[in-house]
Amino acid sequence: MDIGIDKIGFYVPKDYIDIVELAKARDVDPDKFTIGIGQDKQAVPKPYQDAVTLAASSADSILSAEDKKDLGLLIVGTESSVDESKSTAAFLMDLLDLPEDIRAFEIKQACFGATAGLMTAYDYISQNPDKKALVIATDIARYGIKTPGEVTQGAGSVAMIVSQNPRVLKLNHKSVYMTKNVGDFWRPTFSKTAFARGKYSNEIYVDFFQTLWDKYQAKYDATIDDFDTLLFHIPYTKMGTKALRTLDGKIDADKYAELTSHYQASIRFSRSVGNLYTGSLYLGLLSYLINGAKAGENLLMFSYGSGAVGELYSAEIQPTFAQGFDQANILKMLDDRQKMSIEAYEKMYQVEYENGTIVDPETVSEKFYLSEIKDNERLYKKA
Ligand code: COA
Repeated sequence: MDIGIDKIGFYVPKDYIDIVELAKARDVDPDKFTIGIGQDKQAVPKPYQDAVTLAASSADSILSAEDKKDLGLLIVGTESSVDESKSTAAFLMDLLDLPEDIRAFEIKQACFGATAGLMTAYDYISQNPDKKALVIATDIARYGIKTPGEVTQGAGSVAMIVSQNPRVLKLNHKSVYMTKNVGDFWRPTFSKTAFARGKYSNEIYVDFFQTLWDKYQAKYDATIDDFDTLLFHIPYTKMGTKALRTLDGKIDADKYAELTSHYQASIRFSRSVGNLYTGSLYLGLLSYLINGAKAGENLLMFSYGSGAVGELYSAEIQPTFAQGFDQANILKMLDDRQKMSIEAYEKMYQVEYENGTIVDPETVSEKFYLSEIKDNERLYKKA
């Protein structure tokens, strides 16, 4: 039975900051941010948006009445959830009008969460072929103003429906993975912003990629010629570039040029959105599907979550892949965003909703929003 991604939805907040303006405000050479880090724009969420509302928005863009009827599993991967007990998935039940006879929960392992969800969904569909699973990656990536990580922030969400006979991507059930206790990035429960040993994280990421690629080749007797495209976890686009470069000189030059050109197509959206944390690999997938993919191509996907877990797996683009997402809407959403000044972004960044906050619906321009915090409980509304 073929199992994989049948539909993909994406949501990005309506505001962004320009990375050149950020560089100037931080007294940094803009080339460092645009070339050295590899970013152009950074999505900035509104204070009434969080992992729940971002998740609702991407899922809402793809869920049909038939999908809801067939749904048996909902997994949300996030490392910026709003509650230590209740899952983001439970909040979504009302917002998305989901039927109650589903198993819904949240997974956390830094940026690996969505891949953990996808693999769990694969197993679920293999046992329940008539059902569907919804996997959502949702995050707000925050390092703090004037920190080295500020240029690698971002926000957004990717939702994927997993089913049999998928229209977009068939997962080949060929996968290698590894876990190590590593202190490259963490966010203690008291903190809204992440702590990172950024350069160390880069080293571990590249090291995991090389180890897993060696493992994959040995386990499946594979070579690079088995793949048309390599997709990477791209919290900022330079990171994936570094992993890809490990192949330079080790594989045929034409093949390397082909992989590099496909990689460029996969990072276009990330360059203009920024870090989605666990959604980053899947934003790369969507970017590739819209900007370069061809039916029948074999992909090798590298997922990485600090802390650290890595997984390298293969997938095949289906002939019907273009039916699985709304290309026109996604491009329009990206184009229609508005630029914020660095000053306005800094001001908005400081806004912290406390118990007792009531959000005036007149100030809300999104469909899903946090409407109130009452008795320390977050309450959401659909406009
Ligand atoms: N023109 C072009 N490139 C320039 C430049 C210029 N004027 N000035 C610097 N650069 C390059 C550097 O050579 C470097 O490239 P390299 O990585 O290929 O060597 C890059 O820009 C970054 O410079 P660096 O001095 O390392 O930047 P930094 O100390 O500000 O830190 C990060 C950059 C990415 C480490 C930092 O933003 C960070 O910690 N981010 C969080 C990342 C993280 O941990 N994420 C978790 C991942 S899963």
